[in-house]
Amino acid sequence: MKKAILAVSFGTSHADTLEKTIGAIEADLAAAFPDRQLFRAFTSGMIVKKLNRRDGLAIRTVSQALEALAGEGYEDVVLQSTHVINGEEWDKLRAQAAPFAGQFHRLSFGMPLLTGIEDYRAVTEALLSRLPGPEPGTAIVFMGHGSEHPANAVYAILEYMFHDLGRRDIRVGTVEGYPGFEEVSRRLQEAGDVKRVRCYPLMVVAGDHAKNDLAGEEPDSWRSRLEAQGYEVRCILEGLGEIPEIRAIFVDHAQGAVEEENHG
Ligand code: CO
Repeated sequence: MKKAILAVSFGTSHADTLEKTIGAIEADLAAAFPDRQLFRAFTSGMIVKKLNRRDGLAIRTVSQALEALAGEGYEDVVLQSTHVINGEEWDKLRAQAAPFAGQFHRLSFGMPLLTGIEDYRAVTEALLSRLPGPEPGTAIVFMGHGSEHPANAVYAILEYMFHDLGRRDIRVGTVEGYPGFEEVSRRLQEAGDVKRVRCYPLMVVAGDHAKNDLAGEEPDSWRSRLEAQGYEVRCILEGLGEIPEIRAIFVDHAQGAVEEENHG
């Protein structure tokens, strides 16, 4: 039986971070499942079009990829999401894949990064293993994407868990959802003694949002706004996909999908 694993990412038009993040996750998936051929798809139609127009790259959407796999005779396909939350892009992925279910012997789904409570534990542990320990006067801020999707609640839970683990110096905010910059900034002030802030993206790829909304020179970036409030700011632009322990969680989720199908 021809088997495939389709790594499905939001996508990025920043070539420098693409291979370090999405490419690294795909490489780990390929290594973990040597019996499956690895393929790439992006859920962002906008990015697929941009890469095609600008770089002549032909990256497939989920529908295009599944159509091609069915045409090439693949019968057993695992779709592994590399999204952070079970949000809009995950819903879109499922909706785009649904019509293809009948074209494969098995079509199974590996969950996004932050799905179950054990994922929160694994993600906080992975991040804590990379971070410096708590330092007086220094706070750590993570910037997630955020949205109006119900799954947006994960960001607040993640901060709650950091605090439960004794890291009350860590704040989690989002660019496009709640908590946003205002809430992060207010909580930094409430801490009273914060002078320095280390900022990290909480996104698989350190692309547009990380480079511009977080660390950009424009006056509305988080860096500029925090600096205007008197903090000394350092931005560390490492995408989650660059962290081996985070990639291992995606591999684990793919393993879950494979096992589920064996029992199905
Ligand atoms: Co965005």
